[in-house]
Amino acid sequence: MLVVGGSENPRLSAELVKSLAARLSEGTTKRFPDGESYVRLGTRVSGEDVVVVQSTRTDAALVELLLWLDAARRHGARRTLAVVPYLGYARQDRTFLEGEAVSAEAVARILDASCDGLVTVDPHQEHVLRFYRKPAQAVSAAGPIADRLRRESPGLVLAPDAGAAGRAAATAKLLGCPHDHLEKRRLSGTEVVMTPKSLDVRGKTVVLVDDIVSTGGTMVTAARTLREQGAARLLAACTHGLFVGDALERMKAAGYADVVATDTVESAASRVTVAPLVADAVRALLGR
Ligand code: R5P
Repeated sequence: MLVVGGSENPRLSAELVKSLAARLSEGTTKRFPDGESYVRLGTRVSGEDVVVVQSTRTDAALVELLLWLDAARRHGARRTLAVVPYLGYARQDRTFLEGEAVSAEAVARILDASCDGLVTVDPHQEHVLRFYRKPAQAVSAAGPIADRLRRESPGLVLAPDAGAAGRAAATAKLLGCPHDHLEKRRLSGTEVVMTPKSLDVRGKTVVLVDDIVSTGGTMVTAARTLREQGAARLLAACTHGLFVGDALERMKAAGYADVVATDTVESAASRVTVAPLVADAVRALLGR
């Protein structure tokens, strides 16, 4: 088995090579002055199962993934599997307003035609995998995230909104502590407070858990209110740390003692690897 590491995931690709006892393919990628991508495999892939690892955080990353998959197929790979640790465009899973695209389905159609199967981690909406006709599997990062948080002995796991409540519940169950989610309450035209639906945070180590941290705005707003409500210590954990701009710095400044993310998107906070879980899913999909 050969692993092709896309430019978004060199660390995770190296970990996957170890977990799968596979070989890492040589390859080059570059960007032309006009912004177009170029890839070239440096290892013969003929007759091999080829696993291309690339999160699709940006449009350019998505195109690079398509090019690697094309190169693998074109040069005789037996099967090509796309490992897309962070699956971009999964948030637009339906039309909310008239005239919109269903981005998750449009992206799925292209990826589906380009590989023999897909593995991803904590897609924003798991049902987007139904847009794939080829085998598509999601793994949950709750286990490795909980393993990392255990040493902090959290007293409460909180989701920033009802949509993330299931993730908080899964993490709390693994940690053996209670969970809750925040609810927004409008005090006036300009004033909004976020309070836990039913539990008290006073004096507790509270972990905020979400699937994605993008601008960090959700986490920063949550920190402000939780500190006002007397939380003793705040930690933030997410699967996909996009950390747009200075999001990480703003979160630290807002009072988070630590911010933990996985290596689906590589950043200074990527201190949890999803490689063993992804490797299991790859083996299952390839039947090896
Ligand atoms: C949205 O539904 C996601 O689960 C996250 O809550 C959201 O992407 C976080 O965005 P931001 O960090 O920009 O507040």
